[in-house]
Amino acid sequence: MKTIAIGCDHAGFELKEYLKERLLSHGYLVKDFGTNSIESVDYPDIIHPLAAAVDKHLFETAVIICGTGLGASMVANKYPGVRAALCWLPEIALLARKHNNANVLALPGRFISPDVAWKVVMAFLSTSFEGGRHERRVNKISPIL
Ligand code: RB5
Repeated sequence: MKTIAIGCDHAGFELKEYLKERLLSHGYLVKDFGTNSIESVDYPDIIHPLAAAVDKHLFETAVIICGTGLGASMVANKYPGVRAALCWLPEIALLARKHNNANVLALPGRFISPDVAWKVVMAFLSTSFEGGRHERRVNKISPIL
């Protein structure tokens, strides 16, 4: 089973712990980048190492969580090999995979229930990229240097 990288700040800690347990109980391996308590931390300090690892192809898929999911996704999308998508419904996660070939799922820890978050994670992990016209579009996303 593949390894899912997971990371969060204090605002995502409780959801991270919940999702980690559910992933493990479904047979996934999990690489936890922290944080490991509700003590306040700066989300870039957690998300940079995780996103760098995805960029280096050490992990195919990751889940990142902060309060809104915004700061975490902004950091992750600094890496050329990362396509982080902020998703709050399973349908959005499905399209993030089908149309955008997203490889990092960003969740808004303060604005999503654990139950919906798990459904979003499952939709993300079980959906493949459609390719075709979407591949052409995804290939046109490139960093401005
Ligand atoms: C932390 O209070 C909060 O700002 C952070 O989790 C995140 O929402 C930032 O984008």
